Amino acid sequence: MCGIIARIGHDDAAETLLSGLENLEYRGYDSAGIAVQNGSGVKVHKCSGEVSDLKSTLDVHPNGNMGIGHTRWSTHGPPTDENAHPHTDTVGDVAVVHNGVIDNYDELKADLKANGHEFESDTDTEVIPHLIDEYRTETGDTELAVRRAVDTLEGSYAIAAIVDGENAVYAARKGSPLVLGLNDEEWFLASDVPAFLDYTDEVIYLEDGDIVVLNPDSYRITDLEGSPVDRPVDTVDWDPEDAGKGEYDHYMLKEINTQPTALSNTIEGRVEDGDVAFETLPADSFEDIDTVQFVACGTSYHAAMYGAQLLRTAGVRTEVIRASEYESMSGPVDENTLVVAVTQSGETADTLDAVRRATDGGAQSLAVTNVVGSTAARTADDAVYIRAGPEVGVAATKTFSSQAVTLALLTQRIAADVPDATPAEDRAAMLEDLENLPQHVETVLETSQAEALARETVDSESYFFIGNGLGHSVALEGALKFKEITYEHAEGFASGELKHGPLALVTEQTPLFAVATGDDKKTKTNAIEAQSRGAPIVAIGPDEHPLVDVADTHLSVPDTHPVWAGLLANVQLQLLSYHAANLLGRPIDKPRNLAKSVTVE
Ligand code: M6R
Repeated sequence: MCGIIARIGHDDAAETLLSGLENLEYRGYDSAGIAVQNGSGVKVHKCSGEVSDLKSTLDVHPNGNMGIGHTRWSTHGPPTDENAHPHTDTVGDVAVVHNGVIDNYDELKADLKANGHEFESDTDTEVIPHLIDEYRTETGDTELAVRRAVDTLEGSYAIAAIVDGENAVYAARKGSPLVLGLNDEEWFLASDVPAFLDYTDEVIYLEDGDIVVLNPDSYRITDLEGSPVDRPVDTVDWDPEDAGKGEYDHYMLKEINTQPTALSNTIEGRVEDGDVAFETLPADSFEDIDTVQFVACGTSYHAAMYGAQLLRTAGVRTEVIRASEYESMSGPVDENTLVVAVTQSGETADTLDAVRRATDGGAQSLAVTNVVGSTAARTADDAVYIRAGPEVGVAATKTFSSQAVTLALLTQRIAADVPDATPAEDRAAMLEDLENLPQHVETVLETSQAEALARETVDSESYFFIGNGLGHSVALEGALKFKEITYEHAEGFASGELKHGPLALVTEQTPLFAVATGDDKKTKTNAIEAQSRGAPIVAIGPDEHPLVDVADTHLSVPDTHPVWAGLLANVQLQLLSYHAANLLGRPIDKPRNLAKSVTVE
């Protein structure tokens, strides 16, 4: 779970590499490095810390028309200067950046050491430049050496390499994302499109097994045997501005505030004449489905809970399973099972593993993702895009809202096909209110009192979040967001569970945030029980909700259909977390120990 970039053109590469790495930092930020070469040696610059730390070590940018770069989230070895990428072979002729995990690196390292190779780091990656060097010496052909090297590797990788004296970048992928960017002047390779979106929107999504050779004026893609492979060129419809911070102090705040636009894009063209339509899912797509399994992690799991409840209500047998527990939690599946993988990045290893297990068992699969060309989109039988635009802050915000709306629409689409299922009785009213959702979110953003509330509560001992029905997933999401970026203890519960244990923790020092959105039955009584033990109660819901009258504080949301009210409450909770973290001086976009895309299990 790291970000890699490579660039080759006719002028210097260093500046482009560094700015690309800044846009990839959401993938990891505990060390960074670049290597460039201009025919007189490969120059490596790397250090522990963020890309800004790397930049401050570079008084002048090294010259060279080609280079590679890396931003790291450590898996093998702590974040030290030595463990930062790029890594090189013994003499420093071959430099490599890598995203993924090499499972057999121990034995490869032992063999290489026995052959006289010297190692400097604790990483699994370092075997790769040594292997390329070994096979270059044997064959005299770098491209062949790269193919043989990756063929020797077990595990997952996206790699890019440069070699002293060669006007080329070599790359390969298996199990980790790699995208090729093309413009008239230069070629790029990166883990994700925002790395080069300032320079081009023409991309090729590489597939597992692809080997790429870039020269300044040409590129070639082959398979592991060296046979040419043809991949289509796509145009990305993200604006470079979408990937920047704009006027905001943090990406998270920008992403919270751009939810009205994201949601408009999510909805556009999907509701017509009171019906739900998805571009890739013609009518009757789900007529042979009798069970739906949602699989996801973290925030996406909470969105999946939201969707699963709606589908259950429509009478479809539905399970929602944490992807990391799929192996032990899933019962048997068959061709009448649909597994829906909910993943913003489309690269979460646990989620991809769950999909593979389900499809191996004969299930049909559908990815609900934000990233076109992602592994989930290509692994599943079909993909539905949530169209939230790029999300850079590690804390997922706008993608939760867009996932929940996409899933709510998908449930109506599935229920229309599955025999004996019944789409929501008041579907027309629900879809009509959906059209107003972006405007309602705008209202929440303009009127929210979450910052003042964060000031009042920020010194508390613990923070509890409760909700019932659709509000349960919102409560869990509120607590996850709060702990993720404030580092304070926060827990979410189903409202009725509070009295089965957690109530013992409740004091006047533990504010209770109660999601009161209209479809809940137990939230008010359980909130009052906590209040009578001293906890300050914050109701998050429409003004008319019965809990508002008894709560100590209220974060108001516009009155709307109960299916959408939880999403408005969630925006209030996003703002609460953001402001609390800001008051505590936390690094909001890059919380410690976390990365946005978790590509290890
Ligand atoms: O890319 P995915 O949606 O699969 O990511 C899943 C989780 O890692 C992610 O939602 C994580 O929980 C967020 N950082 C929470 O804000």
